[in-house]
Amino acid sequence: MQIGVFNGVNLDVLGDRDPEIYGGISYNELETRIYAWAAELGCSARCSQTNHEGEIIDSLHEARAWANGVVINPGAWTHYSYAIHDALELFDVPVVEVHLSDISGREDWRKRSVIEAVVTHRVIGEGPAGYRRALALLTDTE
Ligand code: DQA
Repeated sequence: MQIGVFNGVNLDVLGDRDPEIYGGISYNELETRIYAWAAELGCSARCSQTNHEGEIIDSLHEARAWANGVVINPGAWTHYSYAIHDALELFDVPVVEVHLSDISGREDWRKRSVIEAVVTHRVIGEGPAGYRRALALLTDTE
């Protein structure tokens, strides 16, 4: 099983962002953990991160040809990118929305996810381990 793991805007500077909110690990460390969890769960992960909305849309379109499941943390795009909503809507494989922080308990503008309606599962506020849970949901190993 091939899982596409897509991380959006500002997740490249994860280690520099508020550790109380985001856990203090770097993006590279997050990727290392994701690859280790994927191996443990018997699937293969392909991780990517971009700060460019058009680029994540292109990558999502390409992933339709190879991904059996999708994990996505769009960062702040979660709250306003209808373009990402529309790209995710095209998948006929399960899509898991992940957020490191508990967006339901933060600023009002973060409470709304415009992709919520087109995802299969949501994993919110579990820190980096939320990505493991997302992979487990996709591989039915939870
Ligand atoms: C985030 C939550 C978003 O509100 C924020 O803009 C991010 C990260 C999270 O993983 O908690 O960049 O998606």
